[in-house]
Amino acid sequence: MRHDTPLLDIGLSRKADLVRMKATAPMQPFNDPDLVSHYAEATPRRVPGFADLHRMALLLLSEHATEAARILVLGAGGGLELKTFAEARPDWSFVGVDPSAPMLDLAKHVLGPLGSQVAWVHGYVEHAPPGPFDGATCLLTLHFLPRPERLRVLQAIRRRLSPGAPLIIAHHSIPEGAASDRWLTRSAAFAAGPTPDPGQVAAAASGLARHLPLLSTHDEEALLREAGFCDVALFYAGFSFRGWVAVARDT
Ligand SMILES: C[S@@+](CC[C@H](N)C(=O)[O-])C[C@H]1O[C@@H](n2cnc3c(N)ncnc32)[C@H](O)[C@@H]1O
Repeated sequence: MRHDTPLLDIGLSRKADLVRMKATAPMQPFNDPDLVSHYAEATPRRVPGFADLHRMALLLLSEHATEAARILVLGAGGGLELKTFAEARPDWSFVGVDPSAPMLDLAKHVLGPLGSQVAWVHGYVEHAPPGPFDGATCLLTLHFLPRPERLRVLQAIRRRLSPGAPLIIAHHSIPEGAASDRWLTRSAAFAAGPTPDPGQVAAAASGLARHLPLLSTHDEEALLREAGFCDVALFYAGFSFRGWVAVARDT
């Protein structure tokens, strides 16, 4: 276990990092102090089955992990999945990676003393240690990345996993053959609470469609295979959200 280096704070001050962040991140509101201040309270209400998604991810990680597993958590800002994992598995250690400093600060706050199980990396997947890790998660994050960037990120995760280790991902995705606007409207209505305003819901749904480079569920699974994963299986669906578990293929 690595409890000795709780902070691997790699600053995003290098110009190349900043340029890439802007170029590859079409919808990155995670430096907005207002969004960050509401994130931990709002997100569980906005994503169907949010707490159970974390419990399912923990269960899937646990199928492969040893007692002292080391887990890579990409898009770890906010700290909500890390809190569930660290609370349930005090002997596991984690590397939490995120390019948003305010979201990482929130994660450190949410984790509190449980943060001693986490090495924080302010940056992207390539700033994470090489591993090998016994599992990885990337929740509510990949939908922000265009396909070529997603492939690059998934390949970088794969290189850091030991063969047979699981990757758990979940984000907005569009079921094959279904009208994407209908599913995004349902997600937007869910996020709006019990008495959603139809105009605001429609505007929110079209904002998602405009800004997120969504893939079909078929393409999501193809991408995981292309990145070096096998045994790709859907384990979670909540309106436009989908979650998959995949296994790092032996190379
Ligand atoms: C919607 S939040 C999800 C946070 C957390 N995983 C959760 O489920 O609550 C998306 C996070 O992904 C981070 N992010 C955006 N682009 C990223 C990238 N290329 N690599 C890693 N994290 C990224 C953002 O900074 C933000 O903290």
